[in-house]
Amino acid sequence: MTGTKIDGKIIAQSVKDRVKKAVVELNTQGIKPCLATVLVGDNPASATYVRNKHKACEEVGITTKDHKLDANTSQVQLNEIIENLNNDNSVHGILVQLPLPEQLDEFTTTSRISPLKDVDGLTPHNAGLLAMKKAALVACTPSGVMEMFDFHGIELEGKNVVLINRSNLVGKPLYHLLLDKNATVITCHSKTKNLEELCKSADIVITAVGDRNKFTLTSDMIKDGAIVIDVAISRFKEKLVGDADYEDVIQKASFATPVPGGVGPMTVAMLLKNTITAASLSSQIGK
Ligand code: GUN
Repeated sequence: MTGTKIDGKIIAQSVKDRVKKAVVELNTQGIKPCLATVLVGDNPASATYVRNKHKACEEVGITTKDHKLDANTSQVQLNEIIENLNNDNSVHGILVQLPLPEQLDEFTTTSRISPLKDVDGLTPHNAGLLAMKKAALVACTPSGVMEMFDFHGIELEGKNVVLINRSNLVGKPLYHLLLDKNATVITCHSKTKNLEELCKSADIVITAVGDRNKFTLTSDMIKDGAIVIDVAISRFKEKLVGDADYEDVIQKASFATPVPGGVGPMTVAMLLKNTITAASLSSQIGK
């Protein structure tokens, strides 16, 4: 039996519809939600992602500020831009697109963002709050995956989840979100032994490797009725693909996300949601 496609475009639209209403409400309170993006260098994929984020903001009435910086920008210059955005009361969310050119350090950069404007949930403050189940701003891709489970009424309690990623943006936040829903989470990475066996034992496989030469998830690696969430996107044989062979795994899975049109649109939608949250947080300061 073929499984159900988890359609990220439809779920993202439902999030955007809610955000649009929240923007109208904030406007009536005199708050104009604004997201500032910072893009350093000329990575074409990053430029496309940032463009899509701006377009999505426009669709829901969030204003944007666009900072495009030269590939040779120094850490001092980048720090100064972040400091200015932190101090700019008209800006509610700050997103520094990753990866950064090699002269710039990701931790040094993202940890300077004001936690109240940290729409990526990457600052030590917000990552710590997430680990303690108290976060208001959570990384966009992980919260987008949780929204997908919620949309389809997928119960996580007691489920065995194999998570193939341990990054600060995806694996670590997802680990906490899943654990907080009482799932049992095994976090895998490049040094994990018996990955195939672990995948076969899982009720849910969430994969974010992003290199088909290293890893492809196929139907023989999952159990009957498993749920497959594919967070990866990469170019392989001239096509945009995820880690999973979608047409193959959907024959055996109960639910699976396609690529493109799966988790990707959710990341953007949750960024909009976080910007609204950040705008609301700013209005509560001093109250
Ligand atoms: N690069 C890839 N995904 C992301 C993301 O969610 N946030 C940022 N800042 N950079 C990214």
